[in-house]
Amino acid sequence: MSRARAAIILAAGQGTRMKSDLPKVLHEVGGRAMLDWAIAAAANTGAERTIIVTGAHSPAVGAHVAKVLGANAAVIQDRPLGTAHAVRAAEQAMSGFDGDVAILYGDAPFVPPERIEQMFALRAEKGGLVVLGFEARDPTGYGRLMLADDGTVERIVEHKDATPEQRAITVCNSGVLCADARTLFELLSRVRSDNAKGEFYLTDVVALGRSAGFKTSIVVGMESDTLGVNTKVELAAAEAAFQQRMRVAAMEAGVTLIDPASVFFSHDTQIAPDVVIEPSVFFGKGVRIAKGARIKAFCHIEGAEIGEGANVGPSARLRPGTKLGRGVKIGNFVEIKNANFGEKAQASHLTYVGDADVGARANLGAGTITCNYDGFDKYRTTIGEDAFIGSDTALVAPVTVGKGAYTGTGSVITKDVPDGALGVARSRQANIEGWADKNRAKKRKDKPA
Ligand code: UD1
Ligand code: CA
Repeated sequence: MSRARAAIILAAGQGTRMKSDLPKVLHEVGGRAMLDWAIAAAANTGAERTIIVTGAHSPAVGAHVAKVLGANAAVIQDRPLGTAHAVRAAEQAMSGFDGDVAILYGDAPFVPPERIEQMFALRAEKGGLVVLGFEARDPTGYGRLMLADDGTVERIVEHKDATPEQRAITVCNSGVLCADARTLFELLSRVRSDNAKGEFYLTDVVALGRSAGFKTSIVVGMESDTLGVNTKVELAAAEAAFQQRMRVAAMEAGVTLIDPASVFFSHDTQIAPDVVIEPSVFFGKGVRIAKGARIKAFCHIEGAEIGEGANVGPSARLRPGTKLGRGVKIGNFVEIKNANFGEKAQASHLTYVGDADVGARANLGAGTITCNYDGFDKYRTTIGEDAFIGSDTALVAPVTVGKGAYTGTGSVITKDVPDGALGVARSRQANIEGWADKNRAKKRKDKPA
């Protein structure tokens, strides 16, 4: 049996350089808070307990953790005395845990779960401590890994404490570390703060562990995996990197992106093969698209399920709770919210459908509006199979248009329309014979050219 696994995620930094009231780790990449990326990575590698170290200055982070993982998952580091001090803040919450723990960072959301898995595996094989290193293009600011001849890590020297020769080393510490929990806390209790920053460095556990006879190994990752976010500029760079990965993954899975750079994904966007996405499309959270569908240019889609072979757009907006069946057609300037469209139903132009059930093959004419809100409550509209809604119909919910029924163009429908009936609600037209000719003659006499 493999050993139990846990994760401690450090998220107590102030993040002042974000210049935001929102704590840094709650800023989103791909529609998911950075902290949640780290939590997901921990869960993906089988962590049975995940503890988040938060700062006393950011109660919003604790509240977020309580929602996602439960109240016991967040601990508070009262003062920011360094990364070793931060991990120690989790010691009590980890009591009774017998197994391996990975230290992750709330502001470095892209460490791939495979990499963490590799670290756990190497630890299982070699014992001791495992650090995640990488070859830095510019190592300034990072801790440097001092490697022994056998490739193990002798110690980590922080940039500020490093000599010019040590600074020339480009193999750096990502910060991610994996160790047996008990050993880790024992080593941490021995870390001191006699260094350039006057902080308790987590990185000191490597030299301490080694002198206590533990093996100290390294897994080498990519620099891009360990990308940290400290500013809005870096947040945008992280977003760009995420989008690029999603675009490539979508295309590799058989999705056609005519102009990949203009299509934006969410972390959970699911698109089947043979879907075509035209340029300038934005996917918010919770979108699933079945095969053969086509999303035309300039659509904004969020919380929507799109059926096989459906056509959406150009310039359509699908809001949360939208479910489109097979072969549904949604045209330009159509907004849909919390509504189901049965197979082959259509709304081709200039329409708002909210809180509604639209039956299979029903056709909604241009300018159909469901009036679902009275300023206090929301009401549902039901449109039967094969119904035909005339252009510019206002459906005042709650209301039902029966199967195969029609509504007359320009109607304000406030009462249910029975199956197979025509509901018309508009004033009758009166024609006044000769009125226009007479009017023109009078105007011309009063105002000669
Ligand atoms: C740390 C590493 C360094 C590594 C670098 C990678 C140490 C001593 N150094 O340096 O070797 O190359 O990360 O980016 O660990 N934090 C707390 N409480 C604290 C201090 C920090 O929760 O008291 C959190 C921060 O929010 C952040 C993380 O720990 O998420 C790293 O802290 P930071 O101060 O950025 O460490 P670095 O100096 O970058
Ligand atoms: Ca940092």
